[in-house]
Amino acid sequence: MPNTLLILPGDGIGPEVMAEVRRVIDWFGAKRGLDFDVSEDLVGGCAYDAHGAPLSDAAMEKAQAVDAVLLGAVGGPKWDNLDFKDKPERGLLRLRKEMDLFANLRPAQCFDALADFSSLKRDLVSGLDMMIVRELTSGVYFGEPRGVSKEGNERVGINTHRYTESEIARVARSAFELARKRQNRVCSMEKRNVMEAGILWHDVVQEVHDSEYPDVELTHMLADAGGMQIVRAPKQFDVILTDNLFGDMLSDVAAMLTGSLGMLPSASLGAPMENGRPKALYEPVHGSAPDIAGQGKANPIACILSFAMALRYSFDEGANADLLEGVVQKVLGDGVRTGDLMGPEGGTPVSTSEMGDAILAALD
Ligand code: NAI
Ligand code: MG
Repeated sequence: MPNTLLILPGDGIGPEVMAEVRRVIDWFGAKRGLDFDVSEDLVGGCAYDAHGAPLSDAAMEKAQAVDAVLLGAVGGPKWDNLDFKDKPERGLLRLRKEMDLFANLRPAQCFDALADFSSLKRDLVSGLDMMIVRELTSGVYFGEPRGVSKEGNERVGINTHRYTESEIARVARSAFELARKRQNRVCSMEKRNVMEAGILWHDVVQEVHDSEYPDVELTHMLADAGGMQIVRAPKQFDVILTDNLFGDMLSDVAAMLTGSLGMLPSASLGAPMENGRPKALYEPVHGSAPDIAGQGKANPIACILSFAMALRYSFDEGANADLLEGVVQKVLGDGVRTGDLMGPEGGTPVSTSEMGDAILAALD
């Protein structure tokens, strides 16, 4: 059975970076015998322009049926004044919601050649490879009751941090499954010292571990102490498992350890499908970068590394994912740089497609 992949390039630099990913996918087909059945559709502002909605029902159906969805970026000034329901971002939100993508994976991986871009000293981040698994569909961003109301003569703002046992257990399973494909270690972070939901989080993660993943090394840390450890000694971590709110902050903090926005991939995973593979959406962390769109300046690496994550986590092609990540490392080591990766020492930046050329040449 071929591997099925839906590509949604989107807006702005999305199509530019995705064009380079297509070349990489073709390379793996031709040289590594990886049989991909690739289809393409619209998402975001371009989808709104074509059929009046940021994601068509047909595209949504395709996304539900494939092994993995790979998305570029959505949005841009052209669509800023649309109604809320028509906004390009709604296309992305619809995908996340209808595919029920509850586990958001944000790696913080530091490529040696870029270690000087980090906010930390080179030796603290060189070789860094950690993964934050953030619960994405529940917790304080969704809990009821919520809102701002009046109590007596003052206003009260309310949000509810709520997790069910099954919501915790399913994202914990995602983290343990990932850990088995990495260094086999999970550190779970909550605030059980001050939050009852944190006690439940801690206990459920421990129970899932003990009954289903006893082979994985599990530790627990309070989330505030975890934040300190991420900036003090980030290399101690393999997989960090945490809730929606703490994960939002900790993943942004960790991202800064690695340097450039143009380098950061992500994945959002849901429940296993009939073939055992999880529902999956892969996308770079960056947006549509309207300031550089259409100029061939975008760095395609975040999107290419998102495809490497798809190889690893949807297609069980860990060795090929290693190959692709190693090639990115090599090309950067050779000094090939898009404009976003130019240091103070300057130099001549390569274009989006020249970065693709360099990556393909190194793959060969
Ligand atoms: P952005 O990530 O698009 O750009 C921020 C800055 O980083 C810009 O200066 C941009 O040129 C640069 N940059 C981003 N990716 C780059 C790459 N691959 N190579 C080189 N430079 C890169 O964020 P911004 O400017 O806040 O948002 C622009 C649009 O993108 C907005 O419409 C926003 O709503 C949308 N957006 C979409 C996201 C998505 O599709 N997941 C995520 C974030 C923003
Ligand atoms: Mg955030």
